[in-house]
Amino acid sequence: MTITMRCDKRSPIQELEEYKPGKLIKGAIKLSSNENPLGPSPEVVKAIANSLENEDLKLSVYPWEGNEDELRAEIARYVGFGVKTIVIGAGIDGVLDTLVKIFLGNGNEAIIPVPTFSLYESLVIIAGGTPRYIPRRRNEHFEISVAELLAACNDRTRMIFLSSPNNPTGNCIAEKEVREIAEAMPEAMVAIDEAYVEFADSSLVNLVREYENVVVLRTFSKAFGLAGLRVGYAIIPEWLAGMYKKVAIPFSVNSVAIQAAIAALKDKKHLRRSIKLVKSGRTFLEENLQKICKVYPSEANFVLADLSPRKSSTVCDALEKKGITVRDCASFRGAGDSFIRISVGTQEENEKLLEALKHVLSAKRF
Ligand SMILES: Cc1ncc(COP(=O)(O)O)c(C=O)c1O
Repeated sequence: MTITMRCDKRSPIQELEEYKPGKLIKGAIKLSSNENPLGPSPEVVKAIANSLENEDLKLSVYPWEGNEDELRAEIARYVGFGVKTIVIGAGIDGVLDTLVKIFLGNGNEAIIPVPTFSLYESLVIIAGGTPRYIPRRRNEHFEISVAELLAACNDRTRMIFLSSPNNPTGNCIAEKEVREIAEAMPEAMVAIDEAYVEFADSSLVNLVREYENVVVLRTFSKAFGLAGLRVGYAIIPEWLAGMYKKVAIPFSVNSVAIQAAIAALKDKKHLRRSIKLVKSGRTFLEENLQKICKVYPSEANFVLADLSPRKSSTVCDALEKKGITVRDCASFRGAGDSFIRISVGTQEENEKLLEALKHVLSAKRF
């Protein structure tokens, strides 16, 4: 059979790179996707199991708005905002998808400082927008030059993506700089991705109270250990909430995920334990890695290491042979081919990684 329906050859979608998730190899230590080494709270698992058993949670029924509202109310309490400013989605990915649909279309542009989370550029291209890439300052700590960013803006700029802490570089953007950007570009939505904020020293969330063009995105995938359930949210100015509801796919957060996220927010002890483990593991990795390669200070649950003149792909392959997967950053636009990103694991996993990396880097063939 001849296939006659094809995607338009001139469509920018032809240029898209497939999203490359962190590698999962059965039996290997996985330090490639910035997940929670402790897993979810045991209270979450209990809450789901009990609700399924006593049929509070009915899998045959569409998610109930009342449960969604309860989750939004719990999130509102957690972040200290009113419930009207909270929207949810299937992970930050799902929330971003909705926001990009709202703000970007043909002829509009988005600013993306790189290297950063690759989904931003894919969503912009899929929506028919044009990404404008700003290189982060490589010689320092991958900071953003606000002057360069603003110079790349024009009257078609509708979104500016700021990941803080940034994936894969681990650094945050200063509040003063976000203010400067938001004030200079009132026609553009500044989307601050705080996927890793629980591991950072501060948050930019309060800017949503002051600026009508700032949104902050958060997730249950990292500090709460629920990556497999896909729940994220955003704190947005009230004027945008109605539009968000209209554009978002209905029922995109499933009933089990809603129940799990509510239970996760109630177990603050598990949250604190997770953050403590990550912070001490991060210090351990930073202190020890700097003895064998260049490592960047991080406010997230991962660290970035520069292995130049070695190639990141060669080092990742060698680590894989030793049963450990880390993230090869060569797939991040603008990162070059010598960086790896290592998620903070349990102390035992961190020690194994360190030993393996020492061994790999000291091998003669490098
Ligand atoms: C900066 C950043 N934003 C968003 C995500 C995805 O978050 P979620 O699992 O909530 O879709 C990731 C995942 O690694 C990330 O690094």
